[in-house]
Amino acid sequence: MSASVEADTTLAGSADPASEAAPAQSAERLSFPPGFWWGAATAAYQIEGAAKEDGRTPSIWDTFAATPGKVAGGDTGEEAADHYNRYAQDIALMVELGLDAYRFSVSWPRVQPTGRGSVNDAGAGFYDRLVDELLAANIRPVLTLYHWDLPQELEDAGGWTSRDTAYRFADYAGLVAQRLGDRVELWTTLNEPWCSAFLGYGSGEHAPGRTDPAGALTAAHHLMLGHGLGVQALRSELPATSKVSLVINMTPIRAATASPADREAARRVDGLQNRFFLDPLLRGTYPADVIADTAQFCDWSFVDPWDLPTISAPIDLLGINYYQPTLVRAGTRPAAAPPTAYPGCEDVRFPEQPHPVTAMGWPVDATGLRELLLRLHRDYPGTPLLITENGAAYDDRPTDGAVHDPERVAYLHSHLVAAHEAVAAGVDLRGYFVWSLLDNFEWAWGYGKRFGIVYVDYASQERTWKDSAHWYRDVIRSGGVPRHNEPV
Ligand code: GCO
Repeated sequence: MSASVEADTTLAGSADPASEAAPAQSAERLSFPPGFWWGAATAAYQIEGAAKEDGRTPSIWDTFAATPGKVAGGDTGEEAADHYNRYAQDIALMVELGLDAYRFSVSWPRVQPTGRGSVNDAGAGFYDRLVDELLAANIRPVLTLYHWDLPQELEDAGGWTSRDTAYRFADYAGLVAQRLGDRVELWTTLNEPWCSAFLGYGSGEHAPGRTDPAGALTAAHHLMLGHGLGVQALRSELPATSKVSLVINMTPIRAATASPADREAARRVDGLQNRFFLDPLLRGTYPADVIADTAQFCDWSFVDPWDLPTISAPIDLLGINYYQPTLVRAGTRPAAAPPTAYPGCEDVRFPEQPHPVTAMGWPVDATGLRELLLRLHRDYPGTPLLITENGAAYDDRPTDGAVHDPERVAYLHSHLVAAHEAVAAGVDLRGYFVWSLLDNFEWAWGYGKRFGIVYVDYASQERTWKDSAHWYRDVIRSGGVPRHNEPV
């Protein structure tokens, strides 16, 4: 943790919220520490549309979505929620919600179309306007540099399996910092490098759709190197008061039984899902067990020992995206093992969990959020945390100008209660961002999965508040979550 955060008074309103006197709790509401940030999150490719406007070039997601069979329904981000043209209207929604902060991402191929060279002024102008309008509305911009939309030209040159991509990312980070550093306080280098590497280059479910176990590990390291080099570029361009972060998607890995085989499967999956990213970032080393587990198909020659100090340079905050826990059990490796998101774990099975599920089929279990926050507090202390994504997809339908989504309200309620329990146990949690502000392009699932608290009619681009948006506005207004989840 850097000294600047120790002294921070703007981000959480106190030097150390965890040690501050706990806010008075009412009989009805669980209050969060003063200065806690209430936010909502989105990502460029999922909402902006305008794929060909103002000099933007294709990213790997444009290419992937245009490839038959890769995205449900053949959906693409070509129009999405048309946020590129409707951002002012969307900021008006944020104002009505009462958001303190808005987490968005910058589209790399909009700002630097070939992934190299100078800034595309027309594309960067969009982010000038967005940031200016947010600041005018008193909403803090939280900027993610990379939410998966690599310029296609860089993929053609090797993508994240090429070490050079990490250097290209750092150059891009510096350019965006030069442009927006005077107005954006909190910066995130990457969103969920696990997804970029292991879904993009391992299982092939995400762009660029490659299925190469060693390539996935190579990509993961180059993403982490890109993060470290990106932090250097940001620090050299940004004012000293700026904050820099990384966002990872964590999930507690639970063994289906206490048998040694199931626990061993859980250790291996946890290594690839969580420790692969946390250890180099916060301990300056890759986990030895992960290196040993994968040694049969991967020689790890892509790691230069000098990379680790770069990757582990202090960050000011760690962003956590949480949706669900993962249950694993030991199995046998099929003769023709399909590509996996956990390279080398082709023998591991992922049984169903005894919980209700969202429209994604993901189990609803808020205990996982508390568990991982407590684990970070215990095993990786010293870095303040933000929940940068949490939310759920349901099959929402508008009725008479309303959208009733009691399951999403229940989901958000239980997860905020879990977050509150973690804060009460001493976790230094500085804010919460719901995923997502708007229904949007849910990657390989296309528009069929709706995560928004605001409904989007994609034919008319009309926005309609769901009940969960009204509920979240009330949480923000009162600074706390109701103790009990009453029907809205
Ligand atoms: C992620 C991404 C989001 C997703 C969301 C729901 O966490 O995968 O950051 O872009 O849309 O998580 O899957």
